[in-house]
Amino acid sequence: MNIQENISLKAYNTFGIAKNARFFVSIKSVDELKEALEWAKIQNINPLILGGGSNILLTQNQETLVIKIEIQGIKVVQENDGFYFVEVGAGVNWHQFVLTSIENNWAGIENLSLIPGTVGASPMQNIGAYGIEIKDVFSSLKALNRDTLTLQEFNAGQCKFGYRESIFKHELKDKYVICSVVFRLSKEPKFHTEYGAIKETLEASGIKELSLKAISDAVIHIRQSKLPDPKEIGNSGSFFKNPTISKEHFSVLQNENPSIPGFPNAEGIKVPAAWLIEQCGWKGQRFGEIGVHAKQPLVLVNYGEGDGNEIKNLATRIQQSVLERFGITIHPEVNFL
Ligand code: EPU
Repeated sequence: MNIQENISLKAYNTFGIAKNARFFVSIKSVDELKEALEWAKIQNINPLILGGGSNILLTQNQETLVIKIEIQGIKVVQENDGFYFVEVGAGVNWHQFVLTSIENNWAGIENLSLIPGTVGASPMQNIGAYGIEIKDVFSSLKALNRDTLTLQEFNAGQCKFGYRESIFKHELKDKYVICSVVFRLSKEPKFHTEYGAIKETLEASGIKELSLKAISDAVIHIRQSKLPDPKEIGNSGSFFKNPTISKEHFSVLQNENPSIPGFPNAEGIKVPAAWLIEQCGWKGQRFGEIGVHAKQPLVLVNYGEGDGNEIKNLATRIQQSVLERFGITIHPEVNFL
């Protein structure tokens, strides 16, 4: 185990924020993870677990041990008539896993192409896009208990998945480190093209026969057309979650704003935060090194030298303006550290 000191985290968070870690270690196995956690216990510090760094906003130096999870491996561990059960190391890049699944004809995650981050982080917030969430293909995960240093298995029910939510963001926050995830991927694909612009994109590219690769390519095309590439402009994808409001509240807003989009769900009506933010005039606004993306206002960006606190303040101003104009509180999807 090679513990380094005073390491810049700029390359380890997709926002590209230049804050330091007092101590830093990459771990490639559960045994190395145990060793790192034991070391932190002796130093009496509470380590920070880092996956792909694609859902965090660094607002300060991390005066602790940052443990970067790099556990690799993609393996079919079980198979039945309909499904492959594929166990994937927490450190595997999510999109690399999607590409491997397409090459092997394992169906179910093609709509989740090009989401930044790692496999280990995917159940934390039940990542989702284009009509699919990982809970739809999730079988189980193995996580290390940070106190007892024992591996425990969680099934889907135990993870308490919700919209961008799981038990690991709430009751079990900072209690476990996800080490591997088993996905249930289909032998027979069920294509989901009904969401957003997938159908139109497939038609425009002249695709006659649907395939996992065709769907993945369409999703990649759509994402690239509106979401900034973190390698070019720092960002963390959607900064806020889409809020759900009551039907009554929605009708009042609809009277004043006939064009307001709304999607009914079990709790009420989901309203796109992107629309609310755009209406408040933020879309494409730049403030020095930070700003609101011009093609998708749900995404806040760092043009290079931006500071995490500036982004945090901008987020607060956006929240206030949406609350004042529409009476809706929008909550960040990104974790502030
Ligand atoms: N909209 C605007 N202005 C814009 C863009 C969008 O008003 O400039 C409105 C439109 O009404 C549009 C609606 O927002 O129909 C929805 O937009 P979009 O399809 O781009 O999706 P989203 O709700 O903004 C969510 C996820 C994304 C995911 C897309 C596609 C959340 C917080 N975000 O965004 O996830 O890629 O759907 O499924 O649920 C992420 O979590 O990091 C992420 C990128």
